[in-house]
Parts: sequence; structure tokens; C-alpha cells
Amino acid sequence: MKTYLVTGGAGFIGSNFVLYMLKKYQDIRIINLDKLTYAGNLENLEEVKHNKNHIFVNGDICDKELIEDLFQKYDFDYVVNFAAESHVDRSIKEPEIFAKTNIIGTVNLLNVAKESWETQDSWKEGKKFLQVSTDEVYGSLGDTGFFTETTPLDPHSPYSSSKTSADLMVKAYYDTFKMPINITRCSNNYGPFQFPEKLIPLLINNCLNHKDIPVYGDGLNVRDWLYVEDHCKAIDMVIREGRLGEVYNVGGHNERTNIAIVKTVIDYLNKNVDSAITEDLIKYVEDRKGHDRRYGIDPTKIKEELGWYPETVFEEGIVKTIKWYLDNKEWMEHITSGDYQNYYKNMYGHEIS
Ligand code: NAD
Ligand code: TYD
Repeated sequence: MKTYLVTGGAGFIGSNFVLYMLKKYQDIRIINLDKLTYAGNLENLEEVKHNKNHIFVNGDICDKELIEDLFQKYDFDYVVNFAAESHVDRSIKEPEIFAKTNIIGTVNLLNVAKESWETQDSWKEGKKFLQVSTDEVYGSLGDTGFFTETTPLDPHSPYSSSKTSADLMVKAYYDTFKMPINITRCSNNYGPFQFPEKLIPLLINNCLNHKDIPVYGDGLNVRDWLYVEDHCKAIDMVIREGRLGEVYNVGGHNERTNIAIVKTVIDYLNKNVDSAITEDLIKYVEDRKGHDRRYGIDPTKIKEELGWYPETVFEEGIVKTIKWYLDNKEWMEHITSGDYQNYYKNMYGHEIS
């Protein structure tokens, strides 16, 4: 039985990953370490509340003693590090916490994993540290070209700079110590359980409440959208089959301008839910500082080496996503009313230390 330390597993992608893995494998154990910042939500994990292979631990990846205790207790085979401050707009306002969690927290995890996994002259068999990173480390593209794994790192925001720093530390542990690592760099994810500060869930929520939709700048910035389950599948493949020390880009050739995303969601809701939801809700607002113009991933390496491909085409994925938010209005209400953490903490069945 393989034991995973998943960090940030109460957030958007982390919780999707925990659910994906526990559905797919009956013979794994996941220790889910999450600080439960504003972005962590135990409600995302309702489905595995009674699953004995999932143990939730409320704690900080910067807490060395706690991580050491967990390694001692569970003897992890894999670390999958999702835990991060993840929102670019917040990083512009409060960069320090991004440096702390995203850089120091990652180094702390690396150190404890190294202490636990390193032997006299090598490494214990079968261990791996997977750093979940982002295409934002590559900076911004012009109208043409794509990010490959060898594109020079050129981050701009405090968020992407902190993720780049973390990537370089993970790489350094491979280059210096031969620690078994992989780094995945993914494009923008969408799907269930995404915190409504990010474009797609914010847009859906604002539409349903007839609130203005803030579109930054001219709305023509481009993001390369990937359905979250396809990302989870990629991470699982990289853990099992990724060549040690390698970086894998994960993306689905799914580029859209922001305004195209906004209009797609409005159009669906207008036709299927409420004819009062129209493009009149769109409000162009001041641009984000240092706003990257375009992201676009070249996923050739992960396709050719590991056989990964994105199964969900955008037109299906966006409808699935909108429907999920329509079917889970309470989830959104709990977040927007602010009591989501206390409410679910009290109901949760497993260990919360
Ligand atoms: P999220 O903000 O939804 O979740 C982050 C989780 O980490 C939360 O549950 C939070 O409580 C937890 N956390 C924060 N600080 C912590 C700490 N110090 N110790 C322990 N837990 C802590 O983020 P997400 O969108 O799920 O992103 C997950 C990872 O994927 C991040 O590393 C992010 O950089 C990366 N990523 C995200 C996207 C995307 O589109 N969302 C794209 C590429 C890469
Ligand atoms: P976001 O979801 O914050 O992801 P990221 O900044 O990591 O790509 O934003 C996606 C795009 O949408 C980005 O170009 C900024 C833009 N955006 C808006 O135009 N309005 C909004 O209210 C938000 C949150 C984002």
C-alpha cells in the first residue's frame, strides 16, 4: 500500500486530486495536510469523509516539527505538494505570505523528505517528491509560440515568482542531492470546487446573482484552459512513470481570450437558466498590474513519454462545470457567507489534529 502526503488537499485542485485518487485506487492511503486558509474547504472532501484511506491533518507546510512527525508516523512513499497561495491578485497586495508558503514551505517539505528518504549513499526505493507548479513561471507569450519545458523562466507577478523560486529549489535538490523529484507545470484549471475569486467560478456566481462581471483591461488576455480532472490524471501518471528529475508541462491546447470565456458562460446561462443574465453584466475595469498577456502550453513531452492527453474538450468541460455550480449552490453560499470552514470542521468525521 503506497502512502501519499498530499499538501493543500482541501483546496481546488488538491481536493479534486484526493477524490480522483481514492476513487481510482483502493490500495492507497492519503494523508491530507492543509492549513485551511481562506482557500481551504473541508466541504470539498465530503465524499471521502468516511473513507479510512483518507486522513486529514490541519497544519502548515512551514511547520518542520509537524512534517517530521508525519513522516515518522506514516513513512510516506510520495509527497505531492499542492499547498500554495495561488491567487495573482492577492500576491500583488500581499507578496510576503506567497514567499513564506510557496518558497519556505516547499523548502521545508524538501528538507524533511530528504532527511527521511536519503540513505548512506543513495535514496530509499520508490520515493518521489512531486511539485505542482504552473505555466506562469515561463512569463508571457506574444501572439505566437508555446511554452515548452525548456522555455526560459521569466515570471512577473509575486505569485509566479514565488512558484518559480520553489521550482528552482526542487530542481536544486535533484541537481545537488539526486533527490527523486518531478515538477509539473500546468495551465489554468477549471472545474468543481474552485474558489470564487478565480475567473470562471466568480463569473458564474456573479451571473447567477446579477452582479457585474469585472473584465480586466481589454479582455483579450489569453489563458489555456484545462479541465481539473485531466490535470489530476497527469499528476498520477507523472508520479508513477515520470522520469526522475524531469519537468512535465500539462495543457490541452485550449486557448481562449477572457472575454470569450465570459461570453460563453453568459450565453449558456441566458439560454438555460435565466434570460436576465446578459452581456450587460460585463464591466471592463482597470487592468491587473503586470498582467501576463498570453499563456499557451506545448504538452508534447507528457503526451509522447507518458501517453497523457486531455480527455475533456472545453465545450463539454465548461458545461459540466457550470452545471456543477448550479447543482451545488449551497457550496457557493457557504463560501460567500463566510462560515464554510467552521460549519464543516464540526461535521468532519476523521482525525483533525
Ligand atoms: P487553492 O488556493 O484552491 O488551494 C490551495 C490550498 O493550499 C488551500 O486548501 C489552502 O488552505 C492550502 N494552503 C495554503 N497555504 C498553506 C500552508 N502554508 N500549509 C498547508 N496548506 C496550505 O489552489 P489551487 O488552485 O488548488 O492550486 C493548487 C496548486 O496548483 C498550487 O500550487 C498552484 O500554484 C498550482 N496551480 C494552480 C493552477 C490553477 O489554475 N488553479 C494552475 C497551475 C498550477
Ligand atoms: P485568474 O482566474 O485569476 O487566473 P490567473 O491569473 O492565474 O490566470 O484569471 C484568469 C484571467 O482572467 C486573467 O487574465 C485575469 C482575468 N480576470 C478578469 O478579467 N476578471 C476577474 O475578475 C478575474 C478574477 C480574472
